[in-house]
Amino acid sequence: MKKKVVSLLVAAMTVASLTACGNSGSDAPAANPAPAPAESEPAPAPEPAESEAPAPAESEAESEAPAPAADGEVISVGFAQVGHESDWRAANTKNYQDTFSAANGYELSFVDCDNDHAVQIETVRGFIEQELDYICIAPIQSAGWDTVLQEAKDAGIPVLIVDRAVDADPSLYTTALGCDMVAEGEAAGNWLAEYLNGEDANILVIEGSVGASATLGRTEGFNNIVSQNANWKVLDSQSGDFTQAGGQEVMESFIKSYSDFNVVVCQNDNEAYGAMDAMDAAGITYGVDGDVTIISFDATHDGLQYTLDGKITCNVECNPLQAGFAAEVIQKLQAGEAVDAWTLVVDEAFVAPGITSNYAVTMSQEVLDGRAY
Ligand code: AHR
Repeated sequence: MKKKVVSLLVAAMTVASLTACGNSGSDAPAANPAPAPAESEPAPAPEPAESEAPAPAESEAESEAPAPAADGEVISVGFAQVGHESDWRAANTKNYQDTFSAANGYELSFVDCDNDHAVQIETVRGFIEQELDYICIAPIQSAGWDTVLQEAKDAGIPVLIVDRAVDADPSLYTTALGCDMVAEGEAAGNWLAEYLNGEDANILVIEGSVGASATLGRTEGFNNIVSQNANWKVLDSQSGDFTQAGGQEVMESFIKSYSDFNVVVCQNDNEAYGAMDAMDAAGITYGVDGDVTIISFDATHDGLQYTLDGKITCNVECNPLQAGFAAEVIQKLQAGEAVDAWTLVVDEAFVAPGITSNYAVTMSQEVLDGRAY
């Protein structure tokens, strides 16, 4: 459930900062959807033509859904989706359903796995039993994938790991695509260092779901910058499970335990809505005019409204419009072409009006109006 947006505000700007995406210097595949682009390996196409590793694609906009297969054959695709925990997820699901439509020549088997890893594994097994043409997996957690990925490989079904990463041998799946979560965390930290300009930071972190690469990556990236700032202290870091209720619950508990914090990092917008509710109830002021600086991730429409309103001071995007890239991969595989091992979906970061940054775009009504999700 989204929190209702109350007021509107001013100012402007666009794009920029997460050029760090795919270029963070991190080599933690469990937390980061991909190895650094330069290290990308060729993806094994099902019947590889020439499997040379092209440079990883850096895509800035939602790509067009491809036309149906030339021979009119319907392509069956299974999508084991994480769940419905956030506004981001809802936008991502809609994007897949719109892209892999019957009109576009697909038969999509969509399963909402309700944030349950065991259900997700069994869902993938079901897709294998049904002998679907392709399987897309948005992994709830990064660990625990080897066995079922091997089963899909043995069955000859190409697997696309989408949105989040798996901690598995890349030879077990065909390709991966998504945002660079480590770079997102670093963007948040770099922006904070610039904004605080040497001031002390007592930081509380509301993490995403335990074991998810989005959580691991954002935490790792942000901590990379924390370690460069001797006067920053992370007072506590707890999972809010990427939900508004989780964000509120964790923030309420933080408020009981800590009184000296000046920064709250929420690893998605829904958690930020819950954290704001908790701070409102406790009489704690936040935002550009308040005592606490809130950083969020996702930059969904409502999250950016709060950024425009000066409540969420910095909002680091995670672009949910990724299905077009998955469809492009599938069309290439249909044509017997090699595909990239990894496709990076590029993000931006946004800051409240009145703030200029080397790492983020200053928010404006125009940017918000152009938001499709
Ligand atoms: O994997 C992407 C993350 O998952 C988004 O940040 C969050 O909102 C979602 O639940």
